[in-house]
Amino acid sequence: MINFGFWVSLRRLYTEDIAIYREIRNSYAFRMGSRQCDLKTSEDVQKLLADKDSSIFEINHRGSQKGICALSDINHVHQRAEFSIFIQDHVRRLGVAEMALKTLFCHGFRNLNLNVIHGETFDNNNAAHRLFDKVGMVRRPGIEQAYYKDGVWVDSHIIFMTKKMFLERDYCHNEQR
Ligand SMILES: CC(C)(COP(=O)(O)OP(=O)(O)OC[C@H]1O[C@@H](n2cnc3c(N)ncnc32)[C@H](O)[C@@H]1OP(=O)(O)O)[C@@H](O)C(=O)NCCC(=O)NCCS
Repeated sequence: MINFGFWVSLRRLYTEDIAIYREIRNSYAFRMGSRQCDLKTSEDVQKLLADKDSSIFEINHRGSQKGICALSDINHVHQRAEFSIFIQDHVRRLGVAEMALKTLFCHGFRNLNLNVIHGETFDNNNAAHRLFDKVGMVRRPGIEQAYYKDGVWVDSHIIFMTKKMFLERDYCHNEQR
């Protein structure tokens, strides 16, 4: 369990957690907000959970699961990784994503010694952009027509935080609730 004193903790999912991960990944809410597609077979899910270059976490608060977040394509040579986050529909706007991202960054920069954590969003994902602005990430226009989603081409945004920016923000202090 990863807990840096914020009021959520992250539990790493392993191959025995296939059912949990598959249900979230294939949910309508996840697929709508995400660049990723549904995972058809248990083998697809198992491959992701067994991937040595990724860590997928369940976000927990007071014993119940609120969503998932992940670090993927972890590259120890360049000390970088891509992040993603999804919060269940019924617990949005309660600050869960903010706490989970801060915890994920503490883990990535302190435990894994990463130098940069980056991600990509749809151009029209205002909720995510405001969240990433709030936690102090940099956001830049990405690739035009990067994804074909629901019958239209969607541009992307690139988001990142460096270790230097992370240390300046001094995240790893207690924010209990
Ligand atoms: C984006 C997402 C992760 C936000 O999760 P959340 O738990 O609701 O976010 P929080 O409650 O921690 O919000 C933190 C800040 O983000 C911004 N924010 C979050 N949701 C917002 C919304 N719907 N509209 C406007 N701002 C929003 C606000 O600035 C908010 O701070 P405030 O409440 O003090 O104004 C959630 O909507 C989600 O899972 N979306 C689908 C998946 C996705 O888009 N993931 C990101 C791409 S990897």
